[in-house]
Amino acid sequence: MTRKRRALALARVALPTSAALALVGVVVGVSGYAAQAVAALSASFLAGLVWLAVYLWTVRTGVALTLAATQRTPSATVELGRTYDRLAPDGATLPELGGWAVNPWAMIVMLDLVRSGQVSTILECGSGSSTVWFATALADRGGEGRVIALESSPEFAAATREELRRRGLDGRAEVVDAPLVPTRGETRRSQPWFDLAALPDVAEVDLLFVDGPPGNTSADARYPAFPALADRLRDGAVVVLDDTDRVDEAYVVERWSRETHHGRGLRVSRRLYDATVFEARSLEEGAGS
Ligand SMILES: C[S@@+](CC[C@H](N)C(=O)[O-])C[C@H]1O[C@@H](n2cnc3c(N)ncnc32)[C@H](O)[C@@H]1O
Repeated sequence: MTRKRRALALARVALPTSAALALVGVVVGVSGYAAQAVAALSASFLAGLVWLAVYLWTVRTGVALTLAATQRTPSATVELGRTYDRLAPDGATLPELGGWAVNPWAMIVMLDLVRSGQVSTILECGSGSSTVWFATALADRGGEGRVIALESSPEFAAATREELRRRGLDGRAEVVDAPLVPTRGETRRSQPWFDLAALPDVAEVDLLFVDGPPGNTSADARYPAFPALADRLRDGAVVVLDDTDRVDEAYVVERWSRETHHGRGLRVSRRLYDATVFEARSLEEGAGS
């Protein structure tokens, strides 16, 4: 074979082989890119799915929380309404509870005391829906019984009075204008609390409900209630302090439980969701004011 023929024979083999190899190279290269592209697409798809799942979960949780927040109070008040159906005369509704007003579960316990006859004279720190519920329950039970509410805000005092008047309950309830003034006492620092100058002569309080002043008026804003009103509590009176899930009020529970004022002490008898119930006991004169 001549040199020329050998070269032609070699070219006949080499050309298709290199073309085939080039084709394989192209195919491998393209499929490599394709694989990378598929992998990248899958990764973004997966990330998208995870993001969507998180987003849906957040939306679902948000909706659930919103529904719980908006439904809790009305449903609890509806529950209270069922228990005390006959309190609302002629199908009239009683004011909403929860939020700024007392929680319905604490109200049920206090209304039970009214119904059972254990409670006739009620003194409240902070007026509002609770005043109307108390007055309604007292009127429904009949006999003696009244509620006196200390109120520091002239606007809220007027609103509660109007609500009572509209329901014909003004004979059962009195809203006393009691601006916040500096308290004085040997065993406590001075802090703003209700001025008792206009409080009528009420000596035998069966139920003291402490739901004011608002927490933003001073630290431990409700502390003075026990020292200032202890001498008006009958032996065995019930004292309910609202919002004891808050730090300030929890501290007030702790102080009230270990102090004695005007020969009376307080013993925690029950916890009610976010309120604490005490029983007042006459003690030997000792520590305290
Ligand atoms: C916790 S509220 C008393 C609520 C009342 N004991 C009841 O259960 O309906 C304490 C004080 O906050 C004020 N207050 C009542 N409702 C309020 C509101 N929606 N916003 C701001 N202050 C309010 C009034 O001065 C009230 O005496």
